[in-house]
Amino acid sequence: MNAVSKTAYFCCGVRDQDARSERPICADIYAQEFMHDEARAIFNRFSDSPKQNVSNVVRSRIFQDEIALRLKADKNLQIINIGAGFDTRAYRLAGGRWFEIDEPAIIHEKDARLPASKCPNSLTRIAVDFGKGQLDAALQQCDPAANTLIVIEGVFMYLEKPQVAELLKTLTIRLPRHVLLCDLMNRTFFEKHMGKAYQRIQELGSEFKLLESRPEELFLQAGYQSVREPVSIVGRARDFKAIVIPGLLLKTALKTLRDGYQLHVFETTAN
Ligand SMILES: C[S@@+](CC[C@H](N)C(=O)[O-])C[C@H]1O[C@@H](n2cnc3c(N)ncnc32)[C@H](O)[C@@H]1O
Repeated sequence: MNAVSKTAYFCCGVRDQDARSERPICADIYAQEFMHDEARAIFNRFSDSPKQNVSNVVRSRIFQDEIALRLKADKNLQIINIGAGFDTRAYRLAGGRWFEIDEPAIIHEKDARLPASKCPNSLTRIAVDFGKGQLDAALQQCDPAANTLIVIEGVFMYLEKPQVAELLKTLTIRLPRHVLLCDLMNRTFFEKHMGKAYQRIQELGSEFKLLESRPEELFLQAGYQSVREPVSIVGRARDFKAIVIPGLLLKTALKTLRDGYQLHVFETTAN
C-alpha cells in the first residue's frame, strides 16, 4: 500500500470513532469493518490532533449531505468516487449507481471486508494505479451520457499541480458533462492551521504538494465553473458544535481558518 493510501485508514478511523460517539456527525456504521490492527495503529498516531480529526468527520458529512441532496433529485445519479478510500456511502444512502476508484491495495481490502455484491445500490469498484495513468481506462467503464457526480475527497492536496491538470483533463474528456465535488485547501491554511496532523501525515511518508494561494483557479482554468459558494469545513464544524470558536473570531482574526479549507462544487461548462 502506498503512503497516500495509508491516510485512508486515518479517515476511516475518525469516522469509526464518530460512529461510536454519543452524537455522531456521520454515523458511518460500516467504518469499523476496516479497522484492523494496522488501521488502528495508523489512526492512533493522530490522537494529538483532535480538532483536525473532527474537521475530517465534518468534511465527510458535508460531502454526504451534498451527495444525498443530488440523489434526492435523481435516484439514478451516476456517482464516481475517485480516491474513495474506505468510503461506504454507497451502502448508506438510497439510490445511485456508484463507482469507487482507488489503488489496488485499497480495492482488494474493501472487497474482502465489505463486498460490492452486498451493497444495496449498484456498485462497481475499479482498481487503478494512478501513477501509471490508468484512470482514463477506468472511466471508460462509466456512462458518459449519464447525469454524473464526481466525488474527490481528501485527494487533491496530495497531487502536484501538473497531476491535477492531467486529472481534470481526463475527467472532462471522458465525462464532458458532470458536477465535481471536492475539498481544496489553500497555502495559508496549510501554513497556519494544519498543526500536528501534518507531522503525522509526513510520518506515514506522505506530503501535501498542492500549495496554491487559490487552488480553485486551476479548476476554472481547466474549464469548470463554480456552481455556488464554497462551504467552509471549519465553519460547518462550528455549526455542529464539534469545535468551539467564537463566531466573531472566525469572521476576523481566524478568517484564514474559515476560508482556507472548503468544499467546492464545480460544473463542466458543457452542462
Ligand atoms: C486521504 S485518503 C481519502 C480517502 C477517502 N476519499 C476519504 O475521504 O475517506 C486519499 C485517497 O486517495 C487515494 N489516492 C492516492 N493517490 C491518488 C491519485 N494519484 N489520485 C487519486 N487518488 C489517489 C489513496 O489511495 C487514498 O484512498
